[in-house]
Amino acid sequence: MGPAASAPHAGASPAKPAFAAAEAFRSVHGRSPAGVWSAPGRVNLIGEHTDYNDGFVLPFALPHRLAAAAAPRDDDLLTVATLGSDGRLQEAEPVRIPDLHPGAIEGWAAYPAGVAWVLRDHGVSGGADLVLAGDVPTGAGLSSSHALECAVALALLGLAGLELDDPAGRTQDRTEIARWVQRVENDFVGAPTGLLDQTASLRCTESHVLFLDVRSGEAEQVPFDTAAVGLRILVIDTRTKHSHSESGYGERRRGTERAADILGLKALRDVPLADLDEALSRLPAELRPLARHVVTENQRVLDVVQLLRAGRLAEIAPLLDGSHTSLRDDYRVSTAELDLAVETAREAGALGARMTGGGFGGSAIALVPESAVDTVDEAVTAAYERAGWRAPRTFVAVPSPGAGRDV
Ligand code: GLA
Repeated sequence: MGPAASAPHAGASPAKPAFAAAEAFRSVHGRSPAGVWSAPGRVNLIGEHTDYNDGFVLPFALPHRLAAAAAPRDDDLLTVATLGSDGRLQEAEPVRIPDLHPGAIEGWAAYPAGVAWVLRDHGVSGGADLVLAGDVPTGAGLSSSHALECAVALALLGLAGLELDDPAGRTQDRTEIARWVQRVENDFVGAPTGLLDQTASLRCTESHVLFLDVRSGEAEQVPFDTAAVGLRILVIDTRTKHSHSESGYGERRRGTERAADILGLKALRDVPLADLDEALSRLPAELRPLARHVVTENQRVLDVVQLLRAGRLAEIAPLLDGSHTSLRDDYRVSTAELDLAVETAREAGALGARMTGGGFGGSAIALVPESAVDTVDEAVTAAYERAGWRAPRTFVAVPSPGAGRDV
């Protein structure tokens, strides 16, 4: 198992990525950054593919973070360097912020550039030097790109004197920043994703899951202390990503939007569970499983929230299982690697398990009694070995703080 990912991120004592980013900034620029801001990756406890259907999600922030060390420039250039896990610095081609437009930049540099592009529309357009460092696993479905975008957004806003939660009254609204970051993904990077990931990174808090109504933007912090009841969330990164993940995501999204259109509704969120059968009877056969997933998944989120509010954490396990079955059989976004992780985890003692995130690879989560964590971990690793697959990466995750300023 990887390092138990439970180190708290405290504002007063910046965690490793913030130090690494500041250090790397000094080595690149020969001066100290004006500040360091960071944002976490996430897992979604339940509520998958519901965000772009105006529905409900329930993520928590990981202890893994992406940090952006930043200083203003006196011209209109954006420079970005990123510190790889191998300790090597990679520098992007500097760009003039006034010249940025969708399609201008490809690869990882599109994410920070896209943030500068969107903030330009909101009056934040000063040049900046950025150096990034982090420990959010990449390509694992744990939102490393959103962590990057959120950290860069806070850094550029911070350099402009617009700190989050500023008691002096110039507070930027985390909900609004999440929408800006969504525009980066949708319009600059070209990924038709919803609001789950950036909202999780910006609005989650330590020891809680974030119950978010995506339509209204209203959120409730629901206590989620697995350790208090002898349980753990084990994250299993399958270390696989299937090539059709982007087209598959877009197809599912368009399918659900078409279903809502046919039903004359704004979104599938508006189908009450009690009316599901009647709604399904009005849809073409190929859209029925998609709609069934979204409507039942929204209900599962509400059920999990009720159980958590009542302090009945262990009882959420069958709902996690139900979510996985629905994503596998109805939404068809699971993979052989995710299914094997989930099934093996359950057989080895997990109370419940499911894939998390968009699917087509990425990670699964399992709710496991503390005493069974090692057994489950070893069983999944052994099952992968028997299947001839690369060992998964696993770690225990606790709900950690959302994005903020470190230094
Ligand atoms: C990806 C997207 C999110 C959400 C999930 C599925 O993570 O970025 O917006 O749609 O898939 O729940």
